[in-house]
Amino acid sequence: MASRIRIKGRKKIQGAISVGGAKNAALAIIPATLLAGDKCILENVPQITDVLTFQNILREMGASVQQTADNTFEIDTTEVTQWQAVSESMNSFRASYYVLGVLLARFKRAKAVLPGGCNIGLRPIDQHIKGFEALGGKVKIEHGTISVEAEKLTGNTIYLDVVSVGATINIMFAAAGAEGTTVIENAAREPEVVDVANFLNGIGVRVRGAGTATIRITGTEFRRGVTHPVIPDRIEAGTWLAMAVATNSDITVHNVIPVHLEAVIAKLKEMGAKVAEGEDYVRVISNGNLRSVDLKTFPYPGLPTDLQSQMMIALLHANGVSTIIENIFNNRFRCVPELQRMGVNVKVDGNMAIIDGPKRLSGSVVYATDLRCAAALIIAGLCAEGETTIENIFHLDRGYEKVVKKLRALGADIVRETYDELNDQMTIID
Ligand code: UD1
Repeated sequence: MASRIRIKGRKKIQGAISVGGAKNAALAIIPATLLAGDKCILENVPQITDVLTFQNILREMGASVQQTADNTFEIDTTEVTQWQAVSESMNSFRASYYVLGVLLARFKRAKAVLPGGCNIGLRPIDQHIKGFEALGGKVKIEHGTISVEAEKLTGNTIYLDVVSVGATINIMFAAAGAEGTTVIENAAREPEVVDVANFLNGIGVRVRGAGTATIRITGTEFRRGVTHPVIPDRIEAGTWLAMAVATNSDITVHNVIPVHLEAVIAKLKEMGAKVAEGEDYVRVISNGNLRSVDLKTFPYPGLPTDLQSQMMIALLHANGVSTIIENIFNNRFRCVPELQRMGVNVKVDGNMAIIDGPKRLSGSVVYATDLRCAAALIIAGLCAEGETTIENIFHLDRGYEKVVKKLRALGADIVRETYDELNDQMTIID
């Protein structure tokens, strides 16, 4: 069923909004339950389509996945004997590549469909492959699938040529089933990597150094189940912080780990917003008098590429020329033509976007091009004069939970329409 979101912009929003569990941590920890070969309880799991898809893939492989509370799931992978994950849905999201590391560790062989996900530029997996091979895996790519086999996995030292979240986590997974110690150098330091490391320690693997550039993993054959709460989603939190500034609002974002948001908080302060941090909340107040700033995306602890589109909407309201340099993905300005339909003044030159503000946005029909673009268009719609219709909402559903409900509670005039093509019927939900 196709969905769209309609927003009547420039309504006052304010109040409190709560953040769900981290998509990118959940999408690694769900397959990591295959490593446990036992019953695991995962708490604070976001109900987003990528998560639901991954849970279904685990079911197809023979795992039992049961929801026991709103965001809590019990996953039992004891009976799994399947080492192939080749269903079509594997192609619909990026994190499907994690089955390779976990199946390799558990069964010493793995086969999966090559990963899909947001179309934001070249997304090679050469560093994952380099890691598997260093541990003794033999990799074969054919007919859209990738297979890895190893008679035995042995710990080794792997230097990553690029800082990659996916490769760091996938190598940690493979190393969990290796004999001896694996050292990952130039590892990603993202909080999601640390969350995965905590899960691995919980099931009996020894992981040290996560959160730094050198991670040491000592594998074990004796792994067990664990109860693990997923960390809060810093990208969802950052989305609401950028929204508060773009809409000149006073918004408190709850259930966050403020230290994970330092890069974005620093930039919002530089723009002139007032920011107060508590133990698990961040409050942002903006009076609309915003300064232009220059942003560059970097691996953590730098400004995340996943917040670049949302920050662009805040910068549209600043006085003067701002720039964004995108250093992680080579095709991440696909949202700009959609924003241009709303009358913005943004020029793209290679990996730089030049934003000339302030500019009044006008409501329009726009098409989300990827997950974070969908979030940015929602913020743009809240700022725009008149009505904005955002199509291709399936992108948003991959990473954000209950958005319409959360924003209505802040006072936004937002509805979601779902078109049932079979019965030729339009329903307004949320
Ligand atoms: C993850 C996140 C994504 C986020 C990104 C960067 C998940 C499911 N997705 O994606 O939301 O935007 O981190 O923070 O967690 N690269 C290589 N070779 C590789 C792997 C990566 O060249 O083998 C390059 C990529 O093209 C990119 C950079 O490294 O330029 C970072 O990519 P990576 O951190 O791996 O991103 P993902 O894990 O795909």
